[in-house]
Amino acid sequence: AIDPEFEENRDIVEQHDGHNVWGPVEEPETLGIHGTHVAVDFDICLADGACLEDCPVDVFEWVDTPDHPESEIKADPAHEDQCIDCMLCVDVCPVDAIDVDPG
Ligand code: SF4
Ligand code: F3S
Ligand code: ZN
Repeated sequence: AIDPEFEENRDIVEQHDGHNVWGPVEEPETLGIHGTHVAVDFDICLADGACLEDCPVDVFEWVDTPDHPESEIKADPAHEDQCIDCMLCVDVCPVDAIDVDPG
């Protein structure tokens, strides 16, 4: 599961599409955590898609991650600023790849 203390345990190593990426990142095998308010551990996400289907405000978008061992697409929190903290994505992700920090 995603580390809920990732902000303490990791460093921001790059920006992607306006959000933080928390390392380590070593492409293509290691991709880090994308986003901060809505954080997705790309190294755990296996492209189930429930988060994209269920988010009421369409926070997530697919991004291509060729040659990653878990999946070749990931749910990117491209619109994390629109999140309304309903926690649905956290509940439906089968591998607990998502952390949402309300408030
Ligand atoms: Fe979308 Fe709710 Fe998850 Fe926020 S907590 S990203 S609004 S599903
Ligand atoms: Fe990935 Fe979980 Fe969404 S596996 S696509 S973050 S439901
Ligand atoms: Zn991203």
